[in-house]
Amino acid sequence: TWTTHNVVDEQVALIKEQVGDKRAICGLSGGVDSAVAAALVARAVGDQLTCVYVDHGLMRKGETEQVEKDFVAATGVKLKVVDAEERFLTALKGVSDPEEKRKIIGREFIRVFEQAQAEIIADEGPAVEFLVQGTLYPDVVESGGGTGTANIKSHHNVGGLPEDLEFQLVEPLRKLFKDEVRMVGQELGLPEEIVQRQPFPGPGLGIRIVGEVTKERLDLLREADAIAREELTAAGLDREIWQCPVVLLADVRSVGVQGDGRTYGHPVVLRPVSSEDAMTADWSRLPYEVLAKISTRITNEVREVNRVVLDVTSKPPGTIEWE
Ligand code: XMP
Repeated sequence: TWTTHNVVDEQVALIKEQVGDKRAICGLSGGVDSAVAAALVARAVGDQLTCVYVDHGLMRKGETEQVEKDFVAATGVKLKVVDAEERFLTALKGVSDPEEKRKIIGREFIRVFEQAQAEIIADEGPAVEFLVQGTLYPDVVESGGGTGTANIKSHHNVGGLPEDLEFQLVEPLRKLFKDEVRMVGQELGLPEEIVQRQPFPGPGLGIRIVGEVTKERLDLLREADAIAREELTAAGLDREIWQCPVVLLADVRSVGVQGDGRTYGHPVVLRPVSSEDAMTADWSRLPYEVLAKISTRITNEVREVNRVVLDVTSKPPGTIEWE
């Protein structure tokens, strides 16, 4: 019979067999898949696993701390955090085009991750042979079912590394659907915020600022987003909503009156959607009281935002994200 307990036991045994006394690396994104995959491997081989978390500075409020503190506390995993905020912000300077942003973030991410990998290999010696990935069953089906190896091109050649390093993949979630992954995460004692996390794009808040991405803009979007999430959670709407991007229209200003004066601030957009698989989506009919609370709090607590607007577009024609 299928129980999360059995899945954990079975996967732990398989991972032990596959990895043996070798070493493994796992990249954490803050999301549920990589967290559960890493937790399973950590349970199986302990500190033969090193996790890498690239902090690109585009995460939401509290998410990096969740990985650094709560995830580590729950799993005892060995974690290397790379603070790369400066690097990402520098690379994104002056860029407004969404696809350009994605390309830059993706490219920098791979560079930083590979650099971290190279450093770990330099520390741990040549026994690092495994790369852990949170591949789910739907990903397996979509990509034709193949399993295999990852080729790491090492253009940073640290400490006499071979030019091309080949990793075996460890993919302990290959048979699982998302809801099952969440249950396994729960069984492994991972923090609720990670286990129940709604989808969040890899490029993070970088694609939720319409306009150039700057530290100031990120900070104010983080505040507005945190308020929206807090109120949606307080209203018990987390399960009902697929995700709720909060988007900063950084290049738009409108006139407002806040406190004792006229302001010329930015609008944020609330984009709550319901969906089964993100391919299509409908805008969520949120209770007016919840919307009112979010709007009042954001405009009171985030000085630069003087207007909150609601996106009532389904997908299609609108995508879930604004960029
Ligand atoms: P759209 O905006 O295309 O989003 O309706 C569909 C789903 O994909 C997420 N998304 C991304 N995820 N990298 C990601 O990892 C991306 O560049 C990206 N763009 C969109 C989005 O949050 C939604 O869940």
